[in-house]
Amino acid sequence: MSSVVVLGSANLDLVVRQPRLPQPGETMFGSSFTTVPGGKGLNQAIAAARTGAEVVFLGAVGRDAFGTQLREALQADGVATEGLIGVDVPTGTAHIAVLGDGENSIVIVPGANAAVRQLDKASRVTITRARYLVAQLERPLDLVSEAFALARAAGVRTVLTPAPAQPLEPLLLENTDILIPNSGEACALAGLDDDRDAAAALSSMAGLVVMTRGPRGATVAQGGGILFDVAPRVVEAVDTTGAGDTFAGVLVARLSLGESLERALHAATVAASIAVTRPGASTSMPTWTQVEALL
Ligand code: RIB
Repeated sequence: MSSVVVLGSANLDLVVRQPRLPQPGETMFGSSFTTVPGGKGLNQAIAAARTGAEVVFLGAVGRDAFGTQLREALQADGVATEGLIGVDVPTGTAHIAVLGDGENSIVIVPGANAAVRQLDKASRVTITRARYLVAQLERPLDLVSEAFALARAAGVRTVLTPAPAQPLEPLLLENTDILIPNSGEACALAGLDDDRDAAAALSSMAGLVVMTRGPRGATVAQGGGILFDVAPRVVEAVDTTGAGDTFAGVLVARLSLGESLERALHAATVAASIAVTRPGASTSMPTWTQVEALL
């Protein structure tokens, strides 16, 4: 039995540091360019693996150099990649502008991530043997819905990061045990302006809602009401890319290892606070030893 199965995207992140976003028609200078293994799925898989969980990744990459790089990045962190399919479509890319204050803007070209729309037999077996199934919304919605219905029927706990935000079938939310939106995603999904109201509203559809709020920490809601807030760990951010993925990956890893929700949330908060002090997505994620030292 694998602990955590991540059904998700793998992108090569093409990252430019720049003081601000250019105006339409403007050309401006950036200060650096790097490529980093990314994609919300790959990031969450690596965060969970670095936290000690046994992780299987179900994804799709092109038969190209970027695809090879992403496969090797997952394997280097001990993530099982038998479910990472090679397809005749270019590997997904994310075009990321990291601005002066560490905030980012991201444009994704899904490529191979969008090429597979149905689970194959091996992936179905992998999911039904998991303890936790984790997904985001950079793969086709049909695929995620199919996987969550399968997991729910098999008694596998389901965790969804609804990013990028998009309208969801009520059934997908009903099949979600833990929903991890950020404030903007929660408001967009619930159609509300206040993020705490949104988290409470979403928790009457999904199981537990853990809403990440950046420097304001997190809020946990269940059954239509707020349960409690999680205090932030205040740090100076240099790059927030992948912080939400770190939080989600570490939270699920700790839960899969039998930790209580409160302790797992604390670990996830500390891990995300470390991630924002380092550049890149997967490159910024701490090991469990580094997190534990600060708990
Ligand atoms: O959440 C951060 C991730 O979003 C980046 O790694 C990028 O690939 C996009 O998927």
